Amino acid sequence: CVCVCVCMRKRTLEKHQFALSFTQRCPLAKGLVSIAALVNSAEETPQPVSTHIKGTIPSWINGSFLRNGPGKFEFGKDKYSHWFDGMAMMHRFYVKDGDVTYNSSFLRSDSYTKNSEKDRIVVSEFGTIAMPDPCKNIFARFFSRFKLPQATDNASVNFVKYKGDYFVSTETNYMRRVDPDSLETKEKVDWTQYVAVNSATAHPHYGRDGATYNMGNSYGKSGKSVCLSDVADLYGAKVICSIPASEPRRPSYFHSFVMSENYIVFIEQPIKLDMLKAMLYQVQGKSFNKIMTWDPKCDTIFHLVNRHTGECSAVRYRGEPMFTLHQINAYEEGGCLVMDMCCGDDGAVIGDFTLENLRRGGEELDKFYNSMCRNLPRRYVIPLTVDEDTPMDQNLVNLSLCTATAKKTGPGEVYLTYEELFNDELLQYGGLEFPQINYAENNGRPYRYVYACGFGHVFSDSLLKMDVRTKELKAWRHHGLFPSEPVFVPAPNATEEDDGVVMSVIINPKEVSGVRGLHIKQQQCTLAFKGFCVYS
Ligand SMILES: [Fe+2]
Repeated sequence: CVCVCVCMRKRTLEKHQFALSFTQRCPLAKGLVSIAALVNSAEETPQPVSTHIKGTIPSWINGSFLRNGPGKFEFGKDKYSHWFDGMAMMHRFYVKDGDVTYNSSFLRSDSYTKNSEKDRIVVSEFGTIAMPDPCKNIFARFFSRFKLPQATDNASVNFVKYKGDYFVSTETNYMRRVDPDSLETKEKVDWTQYVAVNSATAHPHYGRDGATYNMGNSYGKSGKSVCLSDVADLYGAKVICSIPASEPRRPSYFHSFVMSENYIVFIEQPIKLDMLKAMLYQVQGKSFNKIMTWDPKCDTIFHLVNRHTGECSAVRYRGEPMFTLHQINAYEEGGCLVMDMCCGDDGAVIGDFTLENLRRGGEELDKFYNSMCRNLPRRYVIPLTVDEDTPMDQNLVNLSLCTATAKKTGPGEVYLTYEELFNDELLQYGGLEFPQINYAENNGRPYRYVYACGFGHVFSDSLLKMDVRTKELKAWRHHGLFPSEPVFVPAPNATEEDDGVVMSVIINPKEVSGVRGLHIKQQQCTLAFKGFCVYS
C-alpha cells in the first residue's frame, strides 16, 4: 500500500491521566477467527520460487524483504509450550523490476541441530525447559538439573546489521550471522566474547555515524548492572555506560531502548527478572517465562545518558508503572527530550503467548484476547536541565500543544506524566504495536508519521499509519487477514517524510498471501516477528 500524505489541522487536546486502563477502553472481541493454522510448523522453501503478482510494484523497489519468526514447534514427540520457543524460520521476498521471488529457511542454530539430531527438545527455550536425557541413569538425570542452562542461539526475533554483515538475533548472548540472499546460516556470535553482557536486545539502533548501538544486561555477583554498548564494529564493541539495577536480584526486563541524536534512555520498567526464581526453577524443571514478574508497586525509572560522553544524569526521572516493548522515536526540542513509545498498563502479558492460548477457538479465544493488555502510544517528555535552581511542582514541559508533564518533586527527582498519542478512533483497532518510522531520515529527529500494527485480535489484524502531530489515523483492515510489522521504504529522492511504500507480509489461516498479492502455500508461511529491508 502506497501511503499518501493527508494534512489534518485539527488537533484534539488530551485529558490527563486516565481512570480506565487501555484494555478497558478498547472494545471487547466476539467471534474471533482461529489462527491455530498460523502457529503450526511450516516447511522451508530453500530454492527461490517465482510468484504471481497482482497489481504493480513500483519499479524503484529492488532488494530483499526479510522476515524472521518461529516456524517449527516440535521435535519427535516433544512439543514447545510458548510461541517464542519455535525454531527460527527466515523468509526472503526478493523484489526486482516488479517481480518477486520467495525463499525460506530454518536457522541452523545449535539448538535446531541438536534437537534434530536427537529428535527431541534438548535445548531449553523461553517457555519450554528441556527434560534430562532419558538415556542417562537416574543419578545423572537428577544432577543435570543443577547445571546452569545453556542459552539458546535460536535467534527468531529480528534481522540486524553490524558493519555490513547481517545477523539474526534474539535476547540471549548469541546471534547468528546469515547470508541475506541464500538465508544460509553462518557462524555463531557470542556477545560475552566482546562485552561483559549476558544478553543483548534484538532491537539495536543505527547511528548516522555508522555505528550500531545496543544495550545488554549483565548479571554479576556484586549486583547486576545494565551496560550500554557502542558497537562501532561488533568485534570492537565498547561500553558507553553501565547503570546499576535498582534491585540487583531482580533486574528489569527490557526489549529495546530510546535513542535521540544526543541521548540514550534506558527505561527500567516494573517487569522484573527474578534471578533467585531462575535458579529454583532450573532445579524444579519449570520454564523461564515464569521468572518474569510484573510488579506494579514499582515506578518506571527513566535513565538519561549522554550518548557521546556516556554520562548518566544524576536526576531520577520517574513515572507511573507501565509496560513497554517498543519505542517509536525520540528527539530533542525546546530543552527537552521527547520520547514516543507503545505502552500498556499491565505487564503480565508476555508469558501468555503460549501455543495453547494461540490455538484456542470460539469463546475461549475471545476470552483470552479480552484478558490481554492493549498497548497504545504515549509521549513522555524529559526536561534535560534540572538542577537546584529548578522550581518545585511546576510543569517543566513547555512544548506547544503537548500535555505531557514533568515536575520536580524533590532534589534530583522529577516525576513524569504522559500524553496519550492518539485519538479515540485508535481504540477500535485494539492498540498500536510494532511501530516503524522513516528510520533513515527521522530516527532521533522530529518526525511526523508512525506505521504500525493494530491488535484487534491476539495477533495483528490491521495496518495503521498515524500522524503524531495531528493524531489522524489511516487504517487498513480486512477480516481474517493478519499483516506483519510494516516496514517503510522511502522513495528515491523523496521530499516528504511519508513519500514511499509500506511493506508487510499479510497472511490468513486459510490461504497465505504476501507482498501485494503474492501467493504462498499455507504450509510455507508462519507469523513473523520482525522485518528488515535490504536495498540493492
Ligand atoms: Fe520486538
